[in-house]
Amino acid sequence: MRTAADTLESTRLRVRRFTLDDLDLIARLLADPVVTQHLGGVKDRAGAETTLRTRALDYYDQHPGLGMWATIERATGRAVGFHVLNHIHGESDIQVGYALFQDAWGQGYATEMSVRLMRYGFEDLGLPVICAITNLDNTASQRVLLKAGLTRHGERTFPHPALSGQGPMAWFEAHRATWHL
Ligand SMILES: CC(C)(COP(=O)(O)OP(=O)(O)OC[C@H]1O[C@@H](n2cnc3c(N)ncnc32)[C@H](O)[C@@H]1OP(=O)(O)O)[C@@H](O)C(=O)NCCC(=O)NCCS
Repeated sequence: MRTAADTLESTRLRVRRFTLDDLDLIARLLADPVVTQHLGGVKDRAGAETTLRTRALDYYDQHPGLGMWATIERATGRAVGFHVLNHIHGESDIQVGYALFQDAWGQGYATEMSVRLMRYGFEDLGLPVICAITNLDNTASQRVLLKAGLTRHGERTFPHPALSGQGPMAWFEAHRATWHL
């Protein structure tokens, strides 16, 4: 690993590491049945805290430079959701991903910070491949991935309990050697 970052900026957005003070934020996002429709369903506050600890706080120590970041609108300072550059549950592959509050949808935010994270992953971390997975009917997310320069490569299923219930998932990849935006 080369240069691990705790914060990154794009034109309109910034990501920063989560802290335990963000529990209200993540609990609010994961309590929305529309937002979580393709994320395994709503989580209660305890479930949100487990996600915050295992996918962010503890994960930062185990995998410096990777993880789950709060996505902030630079003009207002408000949190609009999260982005990830982290391991797919139970796998060695590194994925890009996102979930935004509904009032932040439709402005290109998911794509904008995904592109920034991928540039960071390829150029600063030296990752050879960045992947992504979506539910087969999550067309908005699939559109984001295509716009961010990933390519669809069929479907995969995953044994980890966080993913096994979703059945086959759309699999996307981008390679450092050929990715350009
Ligand atoms: C997926 C999500 C992050 C998209 O955020 P966003 O900031 O609105 O995305 P963008 O504006 O960058 O791009 C969305 C693209 O999908 C398209 N889109 C949106 N809804 C769509 C739908 N129902 N069907 C097809 N395309 C759709 C948009 O038109 C846009 O494409 P375009 O620029 O070519 O017009 C947001 O919908 C979300 O948080 N969903 C819930 C969480 C989730 O599913 N995360 C992904 C898990 S894999």
